[in-house]
Amino acid sequence: MTKTVLVTGGTSGMGKAMALTLKKAGWNVVVTGRDADRLHQTDVALQEIQGDHAVIQMDVRDPEACMAAVNQTRQRFGRLEALINNAAGNFICPTDELSPNGWKTVIDIVLNGTFNCSHALVKGWQEDGVSGGQILNIVASYAWQAGPGVAPSAAAKAGVLNLTRTLAVEWGYKYQARINAISPGPIERTGGADKLAMSPEHAERIRRNVPLGRFGTPEEIADLATWMLSDQARYLNGECIALDGGHWLNKQPF
Ligand code: COA
Repeated sequence: MTKTVLVTGGTSGMGKAMALTLKKAGWNVVVTGRDADRLHQTDVALQEIQGDHAVIQMDVRDPEACMAAVNQTRQRFGRLEALINNAAGNFICPTDELSPNGWKTVIDIVLNGTFNCSHALVKGWQEDGVSGGQILNIVASYAWQAGPGVAPSAAAKAGVLNLTRTLAVEWGYKYQARINAISPGPIERTGGADKLAMSPEHAERIRRNVPLGRFGTPEEIADLATWMLSDQARYLNGECIALDGGHWLNKQPF
């Protein structure tokens, strides 16, 4: 039976690449996003690929909207096996200049959004008797390092990484589920690259810090995600894979 995956924030960058690649790999794909125009463009792009898909407009900050998206998916495809928590929000701001609402906004999207969607998913698993479902979270290496200038995102991603490991144990036992994460390095054509690599000079500095000497591509993240959701990765649980050309390891102490 064809399995169904829901990708949050799937209308651009890595989310869109994952949606397209997973559909090519034979999954039913459901894409959520906030922007109606971008959802429409993603819908059109998905129509080019054989198989079935749907797009749903919603904000991961709204728990009821997450539940409704999961239920809509279950009605349409019978059940929902997998979720990619990709939706994110971020901006560079020194922490002493950040407003409480700026902090809350990013935490709400990244950490609470991941919980909201995962919690809605597991309710669906309970009702449909799904065993062996999966969640894939997208984090960043500042989840376990420091994130100067991106404190809310760093704190939220650290929370998501911990949630990945916690649910891998809780829901591994209870639902035979696999919960894993990808930590992408600098990836071209993403919201993160557009927002965080602020000038060509800054982007070049980042590039030089990647041992493999280049930004990654959304398609490379999508290939890894497709493998991690596949049966080939059936014993992978609670793991975070950095796909970053060695970027986070490059501290050059000497
Ligand atoms: N610097 C400092 N504070 C900022 C900021 C910046 N660059 N951008 C937003 N904020 C603050 C706002 O001032 C506001 O706080 P305030 O009410 O105290 O003024 C708060 O964050 C919320 O901003 P708002 O624009 O109302 O939120 P939103 O829900 O419309 O947008 C964001 C959320 C800010 C995360 C927006 O950038 C977004 O939607 N991002 C999605 C895409 C993305 O970030 N991709 C990169 C992923 S790595």
